[in-house]
Amino acid sequence: MEKLIEVTNLAYTYRAGAGNAVTALSGINMEVYRGEFLAITGQNGSGKSTLARHFNGLLTPDRGEVFVEGIPITDKKRIADIRKAVGMVFQNPDNQLVSSIVEEDVAFGPENLGLAPEVIRNRVDWALKTLNIESLRLESPNNLSEGQKQLVAIAGVLAMKPECIVLDEPTAHLDPRSRREVLENVTRLNRNEGITIILLTHFMNEVVFCDRMIIMDMGKIIITGTPQDVFNKEADIVRLGLDFPVAARIASGLRAKGLILPESIIDAEELVNQLCLLK
Ligand SMILES: Nc1ncnc2c1ncn2[C@@H]1O[C@H](COP(=O)(O)OP(=O)(O)O)[C@@H](O)[C@H]1O
Ligand SMILES: [Mg+2]
Repeated sequence: MEKLIEVTNLAYTYRAGAGNAVTALSGINMEVYRGEFLAITGQNGSGKSTLARHFNGLLTPDRGEVFVEGIPITDKKRIADIRKAVGMVFQNPDNQLVSSIVEEDVAFGPENLGLAPEVIRNRVDWALKTLNIESLRLESPNNLSEGQKQLVAIAGVLAMKPECIVLDEPTAHLDPRSRREVLENVTRLNRNEGITIILLTHFMNEVVFCDRMIIMDMGKIIITGTPQDVFNKEADIVRLGLDFPVAARIASGLRAKGLILPESIIDAEELVNQLCLLK
């Protein structure tokens, strides 16, 4: 598998040298493979956002190195290439929406890439269609729900055709239904469009569809693996104050009541299938 992002021995401290310095990351080694869906989880303050901001050079390392497609993010001459390869979506879409009409908003990124008008138009059409929000094209973002705004923000990044989209807790402000809609769209971008996805989240239900997950604690990576592997390490998850996916919790409760269910159940569909097999 080809490495899209590589992080070696990364450390980062906010307000370095000051009395109130905070070491947010230390000794981080990781990679992101082209085409994968990676989830990064961990409690508030564990360093997820600080790490993610290194993936497109919003922050640069105090120690260690970060490479995107082999380019060090400290290479100032290549920062435009890095930002083109790795797009960012933040928690609050209001901070990302700049225009008063959805289609203009989605066009903003490609315009900044200096593309020809007809190319921009095609990309806006494609991004809106891919996320099933063509009907919002002429709306004002102010009139949209939080979930719709987040999809527009994602469309704006998608229209730049990045290799990779990093989403920093994109569903934190959303109701459960919008949350599901955003996640389904993100999963589809990965599976159908081949876009590498890095999803930062502390909702364990959101990681069940990822290929691989990383758990952070106090600025370090402490667990890496498939969701099935990770949720089998029950003691670790509890110790870290993290939650289990709902389906895994239900399966565990049913096992305690004597039902024979495999340990690997983490999503609802699989739970239903396994329960049906029992009959
Ligand atoms: N701009 C900042 N200035 C100072 N400290 C910060 C700043 N941003 C984050 N931190 C601190 O860095 C640590 C990691 O934070 P962060 O990367 O935001 O974690 P997460 O995204 O997992 O919640 C925390 O201790 C946090 O308080
Ligand atoms: Mg964060």
